[in-house]
Amino acid sequence: MPKMTFIKPGGERVEVEAPLGLSVLEIAHRNNIDLEGACEGSLACSTCHVIVDPEWYDVLEGASEDEEDMLDLAFGLTHTSRLGCQIKMTDELDGLTVSLPQATRNMMVEK
Ligand code: FES
Repeated sequence: MPKMTFIKPGGERVEVEAPLGLSVLEIAHRNNIDLEGACEGSLACSTCHVIVDPEWYDVLEGASEDEEDMLDLAFGLTHTSRLGCQIKMTDELDGLTVSLPQATRNMMVEK
């Protein structure tokens, strides 16, 4: 079973099992990692924003235009930012490491 690592905002590293075909968002939820994903993967929010380890960024398939548009709205955008719901686990991604951003901006629940 492939594995991946989440780095929490405080710097704690959590290695978890990463079943093939699941998204980084789904893997986070299975492991009680605090990644929100307000729209459940339908590219309508940016709360599943993760910062991909630069070593891994180029291994990922490129972001779609819709993903890029949503990412533009993410808080604390970086050069290796992606939306966690759009990264699907494959054998090549065994060992993937992503950081959780310090904060997210959630337009869907803001009052
Ligand atoms: S969960 Fe909303 S875009 Fe990923």
